[in-house]
Amino acid sequence: MKKHYDVIIVGGGVIGSSIAFYLSKRNYHVLVVEKEALAQKASRAAAGMLGAQNEIGENSPLLPFALKSRAMFPALAEELQFLSNINIELIQSGIIKVAQSEEEAAHLRAIASFQERLGEKAEWLTTMQVKEREPELSEVVQGGLYLPNDGQVSAPLLSKALAQSAAALGADFLEYTEVQELIQENNRISGVRTGTDIHLADHVVIAGGAWSKQILERTGISLETYPVKGECFSVNTHKRIITSSIFSSGGYIVPKSGGRLIIGATEKPDTFDESVQLDGLYSLMTQAVNIIPALKNAKWEKAWAGIRPQTGDGLPYLGEHPHVAGLFVATGHYRNGILLAPVTGLLMADMIDGKAGDHPFSINRIPYMKEANI
Ligand code: FAD
Ligand code: GLY
Repeated sequence: MKKHYDVIIVGGGVIGSSIAFYLSKRNYHVLVVEKEALAQKASRAAAGMLGAQNEIGENSPLLPFALKSRAMFPALAEELQFLSNINIELIQSGIIKVAQSEEEAAHLRAIASFQERLGEKAEWLTTMQVKEREPELSEVVQGGLYLPNDGQVSAPLLSKALAQSAAALGADFLEYTEVQELIQENNRISGVRTGTDIHLADHVVIAGGAWSKQILERTGISLETYPVKGECFSVNTHKRIITSSIFSSGGYIVPKSGGRLIIGATEKPDTFDESVQLDGLYSLMTQAVNIIPALKNAKWEKAWAGIRPQTGDGLPYLGEHPHVAGLFVATGHYRNGILLAPVTGLLMADMIDGKAGDHPFSINRIPYMKEANI
């Protein structure tokens, strides 16, 4: 007889796997269904920055959520190492947001004051101080905002470690299996159809990244989400040339283990095409070499692209479907799904447990939920 699951999760990226992990820790019997392989798509493409202070706007309701998620990483890294034997390569050596004009410098100084008032560490570095910290930076850099607590991980390893840890706690995974239909009875979810198979569950969570909208279209809502392609490449300098991740208005450079550097990323909206184009690489390379001239001698490794799930108001959709009981949505993490994975997993587990309090990411928020014709 077919198993009846407590929860089926559609999508085996970092978000689906994190939800599976936090639910499995609470003894929920979970099935993750992934149409390709686990830990691919946007979650494999990501640079892995934990840019809570770097990426999230000062007035965004996402900021406290992102700070909480960032703080979860040290304990999570140990837990994942223990359960999956995977080191997610958590590096806590900060991000420097560099200025290339007096205007940018003034803006970054204002952000530093705001973040200090919030009680977060944020230090304005003069041109000389920034060069002392990162000697390979060129003269185009006119100071920078040092965010020591914004770290980084390996995004592919985090996604894999979450999935393998969930499996170690009892979760089941089905790869290369597409969810084609959500099954409901009397406005309550009862499972999913994959080809000719039916999988039954009390709850279903849609964590399909940029593809979530398509899965939900036939349930009577049309989420305001759209895809944003990001292109990246990596090189190797063999010896470490920077310590912190360097973030500028034209891109970022993230130092990984073994002298590897990830350089990203473009933003190309409204496409699901995952190919890499020369225009994107050219502008990233020009900017990177401008900021760190030594990169000219770096050895080429590879280039790739991923599709970020963005929403109309820039906030993720995390919540229960307004018309279908037991159907939940967790998508729209845009540029910060790696950073937000732990807190998203925890919040979705609390929601399914019926323990989540108020939060600003409900899928009912107006005007972004549109009723679709069924
Ligand atoms: P995905 O990883 O895309 O996973 C969704 C999964 O759902 C896919 O595997 C897909 O195959 C599956 N799926 C879809 N439809 C179905 C279906 N019908 N049936 C079964 N499975 C289905 N974030 C950070 O925090 N820090 C960074 O430094 C960072 N850098 C980035 C750099 C780039 C170039 C890009 C593209 C993104 C970056 N991000 C970063 C953002 C981050 O990668 C995403 O927010 C995050 O990966 C989204 O995770 P997800 O699980 O929602 O989506
Ligand atoms: N957070 C980096 C990116 O999405 O490119």
